[in-house]
Formats: sequence, C-alpha cells, structure tokens
Amino acid sequence: MHRLGVLLSGRGSNFLAIADAIDAGKVPGARIAVVISNIADAPGLAAARERGLNSVAIEVRGRKRAEHDAEIAAALQAHHVDLVCLAGYMRLLSPGFIQAFPQRILNIHPSLLPAFPGLDAQTQAFNYGVQVAGCTVHFVDEQLDHGVIVLQRTVPVLEGDDAHALAERILEQEHIAYAEAIARVLSGEYEILGRRYVRRS
Ligand code: GRF
Repeated sequence: MHRLGVLLSGRGSNFLAIADAIDAGKVPGARIAVVISNIADAPGLAAARERGLNSVAIEVRGRKRAEHDAEIAAALQAHHVDLVCLAGYMRLLSPGFIQAFPQRILNIHPSLLPAFPGLDAQTQAFNYGVQVAGCTVHFVDEQLDHGVIVLQRTVPVLEGDDAHALAERILEQEHIAYAEAIARVLSGEYEILGRRYVRRS
C-alpha cells in the first residue's frame, strides 16, 4: 500500500478529487494516510475530517520556516507517508523538508510551466493573452514551481473568457491531472533523465 500525505491551505478541491479518485479505484494501491494544513480552519481540512481521514493542523505560530516544516515532516513520517502531495499548500517549503522526501513531493500548479510560476497563475496567463492555458503536476525541488514535470493538461482560452472562467476550466483539468500523475508516480514505471520524466511502457 502506498501512503499519501496531503498538504493544503484552502478549499481543498484537489485533495477531494484525489480522495474521490482513490475511492473509485483510479489510483491503485494508494490510500491517504494523513491530511495536514498550516491553516486550522481550512475548508479542505474540515472536508478531510468529515471523510474520516487523519487530519492535523500544524500552524506556524511565529516559528521559523525550518522549525515549522520539521514538525510537518515528523507528522508525515509518523504516518509512514511515502508520497507527499501539495494541494493548494500556500507556503514555500524549506530545503530540509524537500531533502527529507527526495523526488517524493508532488505539486499542482495552474499553468503550463515554466510559464507563469507563482501566485495567480491563471490571471497572469489570461492577462498575457495566451490562447492555450493549462495545469502542471511536477515534482517539487528547491525552486518555486520548478521541479521535473510529470504531467500537463491544456485548456483553451475561449472568447468571452475572463480570468475567473479560465481558472474554473483549468481547475476541472487539475482534478483529472493530479490523480493521474499520482498513479503514474506510484506505478514506478518511469525514469527521470535530466529534467525529463520518461515513462517506461
Ligand atoms: C489550485 O489552483 C492549485 O493548482 C494551486 O492552488 C489551488 C488549490 O485549490 N496550487 P484547491 O484548494 O485544491 O481547491
């Protein structure tokens, strides 16, 4: 059994999509071992609790990043997590945390990286005038929105769109992409060549 740890800060729709995909048998061998939030009243954490999943709030409480992250890493290790999934986790992770889970942390970002890293990626893309937008699931390294890309899904920008409508359309694809990327990574049927994620078939 593969044990996932989900980190979130907000509404948790990607977490719920992952949980639903697991329940539907679309992520073979996976279970969610724990959901952790840096925000005690994050709706996503409440949703995890309602589903009967282990859910923990670990707030910063004025601590340094490394200290806060060490507590999160310890909680993940206590739940024997072997893949960490960032699902709207709105804090940068310290190098120590990333080194504790080498190539075992995934993130989803609502743009076609390397375009539009950082906050409000959908608005950045919309205002730039792109005609194709999308989302990226990638391994997390020590640079923001930078690690090896596992999977991307594209979304057209339609006439009459605004940034909000575009973000909604991207989110639908995020929900498909994240579970699929997790299944791919857990299958172990890939290698990483430089920056390239290459599937073994
Ligand atoms: C998503 O757009 C995700 O790509 C980004 O943060 C947002 C989280 O949304 N990293 P949700 O909390 O999963 O609904």
